[in-house]
Amino acid sequence: MVLRNLMKPKTGGAEPLSDDAALTQSGLLPGLEALPTVTLVLEKRTLRVAFANPSAESMLDLSRRQLMQMSWPELFANGDELVATIGAIAEHRFHATHLDAVLERPGREPLHVHVVVGFLESAPDYVLLELFENERHLRTDREERIHDLSIANKQLIRNLAHEIKNPLGGIRGAAQLLEFELGVRERQELREYTQVIVKESDRLQTLVDRLLEPHRHPHVVGDVNIHEVCERVRAVILAEFPRGLTIERDYDVSVPDLRGDKEQLIQALLNIVRNAAQALRERIGQGDARIALRTRVARKVTISKRLFKLALDLRVIDNGPGIPEDIRDRIFYPLVSGREDGSGLGLTLAQTFVQQHDGLIEVESRPGHTEFQILLPLVN
Ligand SMILES: Nc1ncnc2c1ncn2[C@@H]1O[C@H](COP(=O)(O)OP(=O)(O)OP(=O)(O)O)[C@@H](O)[C@H]1O
Ligand SMILES: [Mg+2]
Repeated sequence: MVLRNLMKPKTGGAEPLSDDAALTQSGLLPGLEALPTVTLVLEKRTLRVAFANPSAESMLDLSRRQLMQMSWPELFANGDELVATIGAIAEHRFHATHLDAVLERPGREPLHVHVVVGFLESAPDYVLLELFENERHLRTDREERIHDLSIANKQLIRNLAHEIKNPLGGIRGAAQLLEFELGVRERQELREYTQVIVKESDRLQTLVDRLLEPHRHPHVVGDVNIHEVCERVRAVILAEFPRGLTIERDYDVSVPDLRGDKEQLIQALLNIVRNAAQALRERIGQGDARIALRTRVARKVTISKRLFKLALDLRVIDNGPGIPEDIRDRIFYPLVSGREDGSGLGLTLAQTFVQQHDGLIEVESRPGHTEFQILLPLVN
């Protein structure tokens, strides 16, 4: 008690940073207090919170005093496991990085964090915990932006496509009438003009039809075996690229069926694998082009702010040149293409189909390695 009074700053009645005299006397607390990293100090023997810095208060949504008075493992989905691991680490004094924990804050998204356990030389009876937001969580912000943007895009595309579709029919029809009126004796040159109009109208019509594709087909839901989807896509692409391309299968056969529209999923995967094969043209010539189809089950996955217990993680990996840097951030937008004859719709459609299954497509690419990841929820 005497000690605690001594510890109080001389000016005003501000509270001490910790109730633990030994910790306070170590002189470490002002430094930890100022750290931007989320920092907790636990008493080694009991593992109760002896100190929490403001960053920790903000991440955990609790005041320092509340944290010191409560049983902190309750805050984590895997609290018991954390206590056991941290206890073992503290006992043997070895540092641990990337201990995974899931913070459950009432009314907010569960937060995946990495916990780093360390020691304080001048306070040997304490354990230092630093909490870092897991990349997977940071990813959700990006996912959310992709999701919002894609909803806005879809509206725009749909309206635009309808606006183009109607007059297009008129233009094509008028060109055909004109051609008819020209008669057999008219100069061939003039007929070529009308044919250009008809041909270009048809090309636009195909484009518009593809734009409207996801809105036209009703979403047919059934049990889908993802490996049947992969096998179908593999067969189609190998028929299109019969030489110089290997498509490896790396399947986890324990992946359960998912509920979804099989044809849509085939189309989505086909667009991604076909892009990879097209990008591999040079290697196909050399005979060492490779695409891998990999399936895995992922646990506790957040997709567009929703947490799913189980999801399918499907990867399409190729050893091609990588996505051109200038379009890398925009490849999921409509009409963005790096190929001369590309319409830039394949990935937009794939993303739309996967999103209709509450999933998401992401990509990482560098020369020699492009990896598309398709996440599809299996269990809520
Ligand atoms: N695996 C990949 N490797 C390298 N570049 C890729 C890969 N996948 C996609 N791309 C790039 O992304 C662009 C956009 O792909 P997307 O499928 O949306 O359109 P597209 O293939 O150009 O045309 P479409 O699919 O409509 O015929 C491609 O043109 C290509 O430049
Ligand atoms: Mg494509």
